[in-house]
Amino acid sequence: MLSKKLEKALNDQMEMESYASFLYLSMASWFDSAGMEGCSQFMFRQSEEEKEHMLRLYHYILEMDGKAIIPGIKQPPSKFKSAVEIFKSVYVHEQKVTKSINNLVDLSNKENDHATFNFLQWYIAEQMEEEALMRSILDRINLIGGGPQSLYYIDKEIEMINQAEAAKEAAEKA
Ligand code: FEO
Repeated sequence: MLSKKLEKALNDQMEMESYASFLYLSMASWFDSAGMEGCSQFMFRQSEEEKEHMLRLYHYILEMDGKAIIPGIKQPPSKFKSAVEIFKSVYVHEQKVTKSINNLVDLSNKENDHATFNFLQWYIAEQMEEEALMRSILDRINLIGGGPQSLYYIDKEIEMINQAEAAKEAAEKA
């Protein structure tokens, strides 16, 4: 059984994952309008992933006889400055999520809740992967530079990364 404090913290995390899902969906929409189909598909897949992160928490809370509170939708921004700014802000957002997961792990330790501590290890590994992915995207964008066709090359690069990530996910689920 979950303590009230942990139940609330896990519900707060559900809200954070759900906001990330809508934020990334909004970014996917922006990229689509900008004609950057590769980036749009990448952000759409990231959005779906965040929804899965939210649902994983939902199922865990119920399994532990807690109450999962479905979060309200806070409207994410719909206007963004540029493709580069979007990827930078995704990286910053992922760092915030990592901090929040770390706080949850600390709380589960403090409350001697080994099941929740164990459950959260998956998120620790996932956050390491997400942060590394965003760093590698920012490195590649840097390498491409700001030439006249840079947006085209960024889009192609992200399209390839998206295909590789989708194949990795499919292999994990098989
Ligand atoms: Fe579920 Fe990318 O944080």
